[in-house]
Amino acid sequence: MKALVKERDEPGLRLMDVPEPQVGPGEVKIRVLRTGICGTDLHIRKFDDWARHTLKPPLIVGHEFSGHVVEVAPDVEDISPGDLVSGEGHLVCGKCRNCMAGRRHLCRNTIGLGVHRDGAFAEYVTLPASNVWVHRVPIHPDVAAIFDPFGNAVHTALSFPLVGEDVLITGAGPIGLMAAAVATHVGARHVVITDVSEERLDLARKLGVTLALNVSTSPITEGMHRLHLREGFDVGLEMSGNPAALRDMIANMTHGGKIAMLGLPAEEFAVDWATVVTSMITIKGVYGREMYETWYNMSVLMEKGLDLSPVITDRFPYHDFDAAFDTAASGRTGKVILDWSPTTTDRSA
Ligand SMILES: NC(=O)c1ccc[n+]([C@@H]2O[C@H](COP(=O)([O-])OP(=O)(O)OC[C@H]3O[C@@H](n4cnc5c(N)ncnc54)[C@H](O)[C@@H]3O)[C@@H](O)[C@H]2O)c1
Ligand SMILES: [Zn+2]
Ligand SMILES: [Zn+2]
Repeated sequence: MKALVKERDEPGLRLMDVPEPQVGPGEVKIRVLRTGICGTDLHIRKFDDWARHTLKPPLIVGHEFSGHVVEVAPDVEDISPGDLVSGEGHLVCGKCRNCMAGRRHLCRNTIGLGVHRDGAFAEYVTLPASNVWVHRVPIHPDVAAIFDPFGNAVHTALSFPLVGEDVLITGAGPIGLMAAAVATHVGARHVVITDVSEERLDLARKLGVTLALNVSTSPITEGMHRLHLREGFDVGLEMSGNPAALRDMIANMTHGGKIAMLGLPAEEFAVDWATVVTSMITIKGVYGREMYETWYNMSVLMEKGLDLSPVITDRFPYHDFDAAFDTAASGRTGKVILDWSPTTTDRSA
């Protein structure tokens, strides 16, 4: 089968012919239809310090995907060939305290699909059945392919009650955009999203946010004045990983405000802790998705009409992966999808 491989300890990825994975006990084999390119995949292609310290090539990369089940191990129940599925890319140990208590998203031994074991940028992938999410309601394979980052957005956005609240989202990358769509859908009063990219702020406007603010020219306080917000934001969703964004957020929260932080800063940085303390702000770190409460939430949000289609801006056949990765790395687009469906394979053959 064709697969995108990090072959050696060096920058770049290679499209290669590799053996198809075999179904082990408790596993499911999936014919991949679409994959989403994540920031993690960009780090792996670039082979930066994080990737250098984390990866052991050769490795098939990728963790965001949708596909059809083609084979299940004899001991697997409730998943059948033909099912359209997405994959939970965090594989947990099942043995630690949190796993035993059913809090699998808090497993301290989590390993990553396409990071620590062969991933989904390939024609076939195998996964433990417990990592497979079956779509019981019809959904487009493009949207099913981004359930992993959509899950980051939903996990973060639903960390605190949003109904009637004023929500500040810093960072209008693919995940910030999806979080904005969720916050609007579930009944926040005002959803203000910030970025420094006009293209991404335009995408946010298409999703119906109250205000999309370019913080390179307009401070957050200006947005607050335009909306007549007198006391600050009730809920903050940090989705940029940028130190200035968190600092601005802390400075513009109401007393007792809640911040859910998904953005991963590249290094340590200072924040105004005195304001966190005296404004009695709660800050919650968010990683991955809750298994499987977030997945349930995602499917139900889709069933109730949440439209993520404006978030997907670019599609490429898998053999144009370098152009697709360059597009994703530009920082100006929404989600970039690679198409692995059999028709694409035939055309390239
Ligand atoms: N915790 C997790 O489980 C998890 C999972 C996936 C991604 N992440 C992180 O979440 C963040 C969002 O992911 P993404 O794929 O949408 O990332 P992205 O890099 O595509 O988007 C981040 C956006 O933040 C914008 N930005 C930069 N400085 C800003 C500022 N001062 N104020 C407002 N916006 C600013 C950038 O222009 C960019 O559009 C990233 O930091 C990523 O590393 C965390
Ligand atoms: Zn991802
Ligand atoms: Zn565990």
